[in-house]
Amino acid sequence: MIYSSSTTAVPEVGTVPRHVAIIMDGNGRWATKRFLPRVAGHVKGADAVRGVVETCLERGVEYLTLFAFSSENWRRPEEEVSMLMRLFVTMLEREVVKMHANDIRLKVVGDLSRFNEQLQTLIANAERKTARNTRLTVTICANYGGRWDIMQAVNKMTVEAAANGQPAGQAYTEEQLAPHLAMAYAPEPDLFIRTGGEQRISNFLLWQLAYTELFFTETFWPDFNDECLDAAIASYQQRERRFGRTSAQLTEKTN
Ligand code: FPP
Repeated sequence: MIYSSSTTAVPEVGTVPRHVAIIMDGNGRWATKRFLPRVAGHVKGADAVRGVVETCLERGVEYLTLFAFSSENWRRPEEEVSMLMRLFVTMLEREVVKMHANDIRLKVVGDLSRFNEQLQTLIANAERKTARNTRLTVTICANYGGRWDIMQAVNKMTVEAAANGQPAGQAYTEEQLAPHLAMAYAPEPDLFIRTGGEQRISNFLLWQLAYTELFFTETFWPDFNDECLDAAIASYQQRERRFGRTSAQLTEKTN
């Protein structure tokens, strides 16, 4: 368990973000601009995922987390939802061998119970196959929502606390909740990127983004390449990560 909290302790900060979390937005608009069906944008978006994984390997990022399908995306037209599911299956079938060869661990987080059996089995097999890889952890958030995550963690925490004899009404702590969050195996994201021009979190990692540096770009996800990632990392490197402290305190620490 890696759990380190940005609110109860000050995490170590490196030049390269250890953990990059991305909302891959703009696939539909990328396609519409080219008079193509929206699904063509998702296919091109899948290519962009491959590129960003490679760049993360090269730059030494340790955790890459991608918001592939939110709890709210079920509201899209049925045809688009089923195409996204098929794309997910294809990605798993084609990419897992390559990921394993590159020492990449794959994790999929979210309420997976709503996916069909084939997809659930593919996910379980891919996670098992890559479980011991250490160079980069790629997490796909699928049927994921930040509020869902917090609530499932609260529910597990209260059951565990009761089993350990914690009296009802006694206050819970962050340290009790955090190990039950879906991404308890990862440090909190250092850098959050959202493509496609919108500037919102859209129920992504609500708990974990407490002190994450936010980067928004107009670039549509299918066009997001290594240069775009480097631009986001360069912006991150300009930030002063104070975690509630003053600027003067940081200067004292480095002198
Ligand atoms: C948002 O763009 C994108 C999605 C909801 C799907 C993301 C999926 C991929 C990038 C491909 C598959 C990747 C994996 C890892 C299986 P949008 O459709 O909301 O774009 P819009 O805002 O322009 O309509």
